[in-house]
Amino acid sequence: MKVAVIGTGHVGLVTSATLANLGHEVCATDLDTEKISGLQAGRMPYFEPGLEELVVAETASGRLKFTVDPAEAIPGIEVAFICVGTPPRAGGEANLVAVEGAARDIARNATGPVVIVEKSTVPAGTATLVQRTITRERPDLAPMMQIASNPEFLREGKAVADSLEPDRILLGAENETAFEVLRRLYAPLTDKGVPLIETSIATAEIAKHACNAFLAMKISYANALARLCELAGADVKDVVRVMGADARIGPAFLNAGLGYGGFCLPKDIPAFERLSARLGYEFPLLAEVEKINAHAIDAAMAKITEALWNLEGKRIVLLGLAFKPDTDDTRFSPALNLAKRLLAEGADVIGYDPQAGPNAKNEIPDLEIADDPYSASSGAHCIVVCTEWDEITSLDLSRLKAEMAYPVVVDGRNVFEPEDMAREGFTYHPMGRPSIA
Ligand code: UDX
Repeated sequence: MKVAVIGTGHVGLVTSATLANLGHEVCATDLDTEKISGLQAGRMPYFEPGLEELVVAETASGRLKFTVDPAEAIPGIEVAFICVGTPPRAGGEANLVAVEGAARDIARNATGPVVIVEKSTVPAGTATLVQRTITRERPDLAPMMQIASNPEFLREGKAVADSLEPDRILLGAENETAFEVLRRLYAPLTDKGVPLIETSIATAEIAKHACNAFLAMKISYANALARLCELAGADVKDVVRVMGADARIGPAFLNAGLGYGGFCLPKDIPAFERLSARLGYEFPLLAEVEKINAHAIDAAMAKITEALWNLEGKRIVLLGLAFKPDTDDTRFSPALNLAKRLLAEGADVIGYDPQAGPNAKNEIPDLEIADDPYSASSGAHCIVVCTEWDEITSLDLSRLKAEMAYPVVVDGRNVFEPEDMAREGFTYHPMGRPSIA
């Protein structure tokens, strides 16, 4: 099938490459000329495992093309995916200017019936506004255009696998034509047994938000338990192990630590809250989830201060700067949040990350970036584990300790075992587990 993808961010680029991989003819378009010329030359705008190989292979197969010109991407297509950014406005609600722009581009350049698919996370009700834009721009074609919602559930760092082997595909539409076209589009996956859930558009839009908010709630629940365990002398890792063994609860997303970051959960929860309030339900649970998440950074700051007394002039090393492992994305990263707080208190902050150093430096010019974790730790008064990259969880602890001025580790992701840290002679402060002095 002939498909256009508007927007080549994390969602758009992965969607384009994986749809091409399923055998479709995909043209991806973006306003950013530099990004598009980079992609045409096989250069990725961000790090995502497996993506570069897929883009290069699908470009070579001729099924994947990139252009800045919607007039090149849209004529003749059956399906258009809107994958543009929906950044938060000052009040927390999503800014949908780019979604309106994408709808306009599709309408102006369409040459026949198109199913227009919202892939970006948008507030419920957006489909109606997209439809109105299409009708205003192209009253001639509007009756043949269908709007659908097909929210993505892909995680950064695992985005290619999440797209090619998803837990489920969610399709929201209001008529059979749209469902029929999208069923054909995803047949290569559903034929292999991937479940397809068909709903109304409003249900699909709410379901996407409901999933992200629930994941955030699980993380905040674990972080609230961590605070309680610290007071009770209990171990949160064991508490969530017990919880996770209950099939009704499940073990995923119960890791206590520095809290959630990234460009999805931190912006989707307030957007869901605003949407809900606008419709007349306050949803106070969501505000509490956000409060607990912010408090996770306060808890880490308190541990660092307790261990180091005054922070002025102390050399503090952050291991991991990305918001999670296997990505170079530092947007709303808890590590950078912590770096800003420590710098404001007068500490010297040195960061190491296998991929995210340049992005972190861009956001915080005062942050010193080291090339490897051991040189970063030279003369350090404290190491804070912020992101659980494999490289960081498998560090040589004795070598690390030999580099440090004071052997203090604050484990913001609970990656080390207290017995190992005690054996190595560290002062060790995990999150929600007993400290070792
Ligand atoms: C998320 C959703 O998982 C995905 O389905 C959706 O489509 C987009 O948003 P992503 O932003 O890539 O994906 O990150 P995710 O893996 O969900 O992690 C979010 C944050 O939560 C990270 O900062 C991570 O470190 C943190 N986290 C995750 C925890 O603190 N504890 C956990 O147990 C799990």
